[in-house]
Amino acid sequence: MDVTHPDGKVDAVSEVSKTLDRFNNATLATYSRPAVLLTRGKGLDLFAKIDEKDATSSTSSQEGVAERQYLDFSSGIAVNSLGHADGQIADIAYEQANRLVHSSNLFHNEWSGELADRMVSLTFEHGGLGVEKGTKNDNSLKVFLANSGTEANEAALKFARKYAMNTAKTGPGEKSGLVSFNNAFHGRTMGALSMTPNPKYQAPFAPLIGNVKTGTYNSIEDINTLIDDKTAGVLVEPVQGEGGIFPASLEFLRALRRRCDEVGALLMFDEIQCGLMRTGTLWCHSALPTDAHPDLVTMAKPLANGFPIGAVLMRQKVADAITVGDHGTTFGGGPLTSRIAHHVLGRLTEPTLLNGLQESSQLLFNRLTQMRQHFPDLIAHDESSGKHSPRGKGLLVGMSLKEPSHAGRVLKLARERGLIILSAGSDALRFTPSLIVNSEQVNKACDIVESCLLVLQREVAEGK
Ligand SMILES: Cc1ncc(COP(=O)(O)O)c(C=O)c1O
Repeated sequence: MDVTHPDGKVDAVSEVSKTLDRFNNATLATYSRPAVLLTRGKGLDLFAKIDEKDATSSTSSQEGVAERQYLDFSSGIAVNSLGHADGQIADIAYEQANRLVHSSNLFHNEWSGELADRMVSLTFEHGGLGVEKGTKNDNSLKVFLANSGTEANEAALKFARKYAMNTAKTGPGEKSGLVSFNNAFHGRTMGALSMTPNPKYQAPFAPLIGNVKTGTYNSIEDINTLIDDKTAGVLVEPVQGEGGIFPASLEFLRALRRRCDEVGALLMFDEIQCGLMRTGTLWCHSALPTDAHPDLVTMAKPLANGFPIGAVLMRQKVADAITVGDHGTTFGGGPLTSRIAHHVLGRLTEPTLLNGLQESSQLLFNRLTQMRQHFPDLIAHDESSGKHSPRGKGLLVGMSLKEPSHAGRVLKLARERGLIILSAGSDALRFTPSLIVNSEQVNKACDIVESCLLVLQREVAEGK
């Protein structure tokens, strides 16, 4: 229960503090960060530099630099699915960086097409985009490569409007409506931000793009008025991540699919956080019946295990609406990132990874369920509001605390005991470890969270 990894300025004149002050003096403060200076990682471990004089028995040293070790259950916000500093990825990056990093999209390179081809083949193998697992393999899917999640969504929104322009029975530009849902997070650029109905993110930047409506997630009643003849596209996360780890119901996704077909709108799944094996299948929707599948899916985070990338995978009817010059990017589809993503896709779909992931997920759910039973005063469990704890799928797992401010408190208590976790929504702890996490690491993380809940319980009793 004791603090082993104190953050904050242990000593105002320490070398690390001086370095962080210098960095902060020159860096735009868009994030509030603890005074922890990360230097390297390996697997699920992250290492922070500390001053020699702050070294204790729980700290180590590498090449003469004292360091403190953390167990990372955030994987860089659901990015490093294969862990930190993966040796094979490092070798590929080195080899390709010595060969060709960038050549522009004015020419073909050896890897962007290879990546698209693998993504399409794997989708046929695993199911998705209207195709049942293993039933066909033709030329009916297409990939657009970008550099981040928000950019992938930005491309998707443009594709939806272009598709609608071609298919609208109304006048030009009239079928331009876009729909997203409460608690959604789709990114920070103007289009994606317009689809992210969180006043904290949107208010300072109004006016946003027009013709955007917000529906109620998992509510079927209002779908017919929400989505109409003027709707170009509907963007939804099959499991909401930032918003608080809320899975969509099958009935909701089916109803969206049906209504989009009725009015000729594109159904778009944002799987930037929940796709690419995080929830146990290639696409989060791979396991769903095809009448709940989207017309396109956006992805990013783990696709190149930390190298910046984003992508849109779409059905042919969407691709048919897009012509040369409609959209573009300088860096998207570059040979370095594409080659890494091609490798990562192969590794993510190895059966051994899935077996380990399922085992770890089961253990994590079991341990968190026990915790909920041990700490009913702290942990929320309300089926009716969707806030049952734990919730989520695979290794995208959330657990709500009764008092919203406790989520941030537990995060800090955990970090000060060597565990990095995230929050989500207004009150949830979020667990998104690398997909290579093992049972020992799950148990260690849960032991630490349990200690933090004991500390919190004591603080509450003492009225702190
Ligand atoms: C579901 C979802 N969509 C979009 C984004 C934005 O991705 P990026 O930060 O790469 O722009 C995120 C990032 O957290 C996300 O979780």
